Amino acid sequence: MERRDFIRVCAASAIALQGGTGAAAADARPRSYGRTQLTDDGGRPLRATRLAVGENYVFHYPFEGTPCFLLNLGKPTGRNVPLKTETGAAYQWPGGVGPRGAIVAYSAICSHQLTYPTRQISFISYRDQSTASRISKPNMIHCCSEHSEYDPAAGARVLGGPAPQPLCAILLEYDAAGDTLHATGTLGGEMFNTFFSKYEMRLALEHGSTIRAQQRVTGNTVVTPLKQFCKQQVRC
Ligand code: FES
Repeated sequence: MERRDFIRVCAASAIALQGGTGAAAADARPRSYGRTQLTDDGGRPLRATRLAVGENYVFHYPFEGTPCFLLNLGKPTGRNVPLKTETGAAYQWPGGVGPRGAIVAYSAICSHQLTYPTRQISFISYRDQSTASRISKPNMIHCCSEHSEYDPAAGARVLGGPAPQPLCAILLEYDAAGDTLHATGTLGGEMFNTFFSKYEMRLALEHGSTIRAQQRVTGNTVVTPLKQFCKQQVRC
């Protein structure tokens, strides 16, 4: 992890931990889920500088059944972006990591009604200049279910549609010496419990059992381009 990235994550943690007490504050508190290495499908450490700009990548974290987006936005993101969860809990998203501070990760579960990418179909994805439409703005994560739109360069702040809060951020560490990435936790409004409850049957089918879907990811997690992970991407 680069020193400046480490400092940013610590600063985000300290700010969020100062954010108050009670359920609302707990919603935004950074949560550690253990350090998990991002790998390619051969189990080799993923090289951050090889991530294609604008490509949607998917990995699962912090649970086997909870998908996340990994994006190289191609340019530095915002820093220490102030955000709020649906319950009003404040937190600061520290910004992207990697050589240009352009790599970000978010839970791929839409904060409106929990649409998420499956092996069969995805209604939610990042759109760059070439894949945006008249409905979806470029350089945004867009959910075609009811057109919620999130800015990945600003902590997945909501820019449109009915989403009540940003996507939950996945905290990343970048190791410049090895050009590798680790996921270490989450920041912002998690929706995992509601997700597990809403999709219990589907997740059991997708992952073999509900217990397996809710198992914590440990050690490493495989990163796959969305176009390989899922048969059909809906682009509204
Ligand atoms: S589920 Fe994504 S906008 Fe409604």
